[in-house]
Amino acid sequence: MHFSARLDRFGSEVFAALKELRMKREAQGLAVIDLSIGTPDFEPPAHLVEAYAQAARDPECWKYAIVDTPEMLQAVCSYYERRFGVQVSPDMVCSAHGTQEGMGMLALALVDEGDTVLVPDPCYPVFQNAVLLSGATPWYYPLSRETGFVPRVSDIPAEVADAARYMVVSLPANPVGSIGTPELYRELIAFAREHDLLIVHDNAYSDIIYDGAQGGSFLAYEGAAEVGVEFFSLSKSFNVTGLRISYLVGRPDVIAAFKRLHSQIDFGMPLPQQRVAIAALTWPLDSVRAQCALYQERRDALCDGLVAAGWERPNAQGTMFVWAKLPHGREDSLGFAMELMERTGVIVTPGASFGPHGEGYVRFALVQPPERLREVCELIAASGL
Ligand SMILES: Cc1ncc(COP(=O)(O)O)c(C=O)c1O
Repeated sequence: MHFSARLDRFGSEVFAALKELRMKREAQGLAVIDLSIGTPDFEPPAHLVEAYAQAARDPECWKYAIVDTPEMLQAVCSYYERRFGVQVSPDMVCSAHGTQEGMGMLALALVDEGDTVLVPDPCYPVFQNAVLLSGATPWYYPLSRETGFVPRVSDIPAEVADAARYMVVSLPANPVGSIGTPELYRELIAFAREHDLLIVHDNAYSDIIYDGAQGGSFLAYEGAAEVGVEFFSLSKSFNVTGLRISYLVGRPDVIAAFKRLHSQIDFGMPLPQQRVAIAALTWPLDSVRAQCALYQERRDALCDGLVAAGWERPNAQGTMFVWAKLPHGREDSLGFAMELMERTGVIVTPGASFGPHGEGYVRFALVQPPERLREVCELIAASGL
């Protein structure tokens, strides 16, 4: 069988060794506590469940959704105004089957072989893989302790910026846990204008942000909609990861190109998902705020526990993850994660799996209640690691 050369562009599976070890443990009847994957353990709000159930009973909802319905597009526009104070029109919105898929499609609509795209290192893997899929070349900018875990555009050489077609930015940032500031967003807009590139902002975690900081939209900043688009996913705010509800919002010609590409190989978001999205976007957001407070309790439990176990206090200002520097000068994140699982049953993601600048760190997902996370820290402290 002949497979496309495209498949060879993706790196080998860093998780394979971890998976194998996990299966071995489970086969021996040993417990695991999985903090490696960012699937929320919280449930979707009841009114979303009801909207989905009602849609399932409506025969119309079982048909192709050729396009996004005007009601759903309007719900996104109204939400942007209500939640972020941003005015967008329906031609500035298009649904995606999750940001993950949307990033892949967008790369195919924006770039060709030989183009350059600015990608954070470490990053959520699809930022890089979408570029590789399109045949373009990622140029990695670091999100490291030295840059305060945020993009530093002044470090990007002018010739690289001039060659780049777009730059992926995502704040609050998975995996590194940093958040944006108005100054940073303004700097990014000026940079995009100066070098004639597009900013693609992934706003997956605007509702999971700590210590009183406010999550917003990149599009709230003057000029952003001229130089940028934003992915806005309902996955994490509303615990609907499996339904694949996300939007690309912003510069109209980019939205039109995205729709054109997408319509060649798929139809629109299924109508039951559209109904759920309308329910989520038009209801009060108390449950979203309450959930953020619960995530903060988890963040505190884990970070305090790690500090008590001798770790440096992790960078964790937003997202449902904690980015922790390995203790005692260790640098090998995969080796550390394997030993941690072997000795404690706790599974974390090695930082190196997110890019070379992730080495020396591990990522914990806040998918267990505070008491369980305190137990995790006690296990770590007792492990001798
Ligand atoms: C930065 C970031 N973007 C996007 C996603 C996924 O969003 P979606 O479920 O809409 O594909 C995640 C999920 O972990 C993420 O961390």
